[in-house]
Amino acid sequence: MRNPRLGHLPEYAFPRLRALLDGIAAGQDPIDMTIGEPRHGMPDFVADILVSDPKAYGKYPPIGGTPEWCAAVSGWLTRRYGLGTGMIDPARHVLPLNGTREGLFSITFVTVPPEKQGQRPLVLMPNPFYQCYTAAALAAGADPVYVAATRETGFMPDFAGLGEATLGRSSLVYLCSPANPQGAVASPGYLRELIALARQHDFVLAVDECYAEIYGDVPPTGALEVCQAIASEDPRYAEDPFANVLVFHSLSKRSSLPGLRSGFVAGDPQLIADFRLFRNYIGPASPLPTYAAAAAAWNDETHVEANRDLYRAKFDLAARILGNRFGFYRPAGGFFLWLDVSATRHGDGETAALALWREAGVRVLPGAYLSQDGADGVNPGRDYVRVALVDDLQTTERGLLRLAETLGS
Ligand SMILES: Cc1ncc(COP(=O)(O)O)c(C=O)c1O
Repeated sequence: MRNPRLGHLPEYAFPRLRALLDGIAAGQDPIDMTIGEPRHGMPDFVADILVSDPKAYGKYPPIGGTPEWCAAVSGWLTRRYGLGTGMIDPARHVLPLNGTREGLFSITFVTVPPEKQGQRPLVLMPNPFYQCYTAAALAAGADPVYVAATRETGFMPDFAGLGEATLGRSSLVYLCSPANPQGAVASPGYLRELIALARQHDFVLAVDECYAEIYGDVPPTGALEVCQAIASEDPRYAEDPFANVLVFHSLSKRSSLPGLRSGFVAGDPQLIADFRLFRNYIGPASPLPTYAAAAAAWNDETHVEANRDLYRAKFDLAARILGNRFGFYRPAGGFFLWLDVSATRHGDGETAALALWREAGVRVLPGAYLSQDGADGVNPGRDYVRVALVDDLQTTERGLLRLAETLGS
């Protein structure tokens, strides 16, 4: 017995990369620029907190977080997005997650009905996309719809252009801002239009904001602050400003704590109540020491500013080394380069990734592994490689110099 839906899952990017590269010797000592795992080192207060109260592991932790965790998260959301005092009530608007990924996945079970408008529901997502979105859609019995997010669309998906039939059948729409892999940030106007569509067509807008704290000059706008602006102008939403909207946040990127597995979802109180009920059955609460460390991390900005400065220095390096080659641009957010290699001797991202490994020992991810073929048969990631700037400055510089030489030769 095997659930046949498993057979519909797209091939996962990293095993696919291993199949491409393993068995081929690296041209030089390997530099891994594939995975979005920050290697800056975690804030120094975290380890002390984690070991300070080992007896806490003897208790079942609450699914809704501890009072100090709730206060830290609602305080951070309020400060970061300029929300009105008291607008975030953690008991109604926030739930802890074991990292955003599990929440982005399991939210489909509370938002995707068996049918919408008499048909199998749709889950919309950008293309390229974070892999868990498509697996979540398929697991919930929905049809995923991949909406191109290319240079031509400003690297944001044009959901509004999809037409009434598609939007009406949609139950959940994923947006990633800042986007992985392109680093594009949704503008306030874009978010405003999408929130209006969600309410008009009664779908849930799930905004993956896990890169919200890694940015160049301007802090990316968040969906909740746009909800607040709409509610201040439109009396229909004064009582329920976050209707149809959920945002997902994480300490993995912000605080270089991918191993802590700590994040949260915030927004529409009805959805949060449903999700809380659902999570009570599953029991994915974080251990009490994790809540304590997470609370301290959300309360501290010093380490986040240092983190951002380091990413900025790496983008400075990339700008110096790559210049205007390989379609280099400085993304508004996130820590990836999304390089167009179609004009090089390699022709596409997969061939370039192979050459970078074989000739230079640099491991990057072919863009096609993060995307699906569109309705036109074209994979929007085909021409690209994704390069994660997650290592220290020196390693990043070595990796980029080798990459530029290999791609440019
Ligand atoms: C777009 C995006 N969303 C979500 C996640 C999940 O992060 P975490 O579960 O560590 O919060 C990642 C991690 O790489 C990501 O790139």
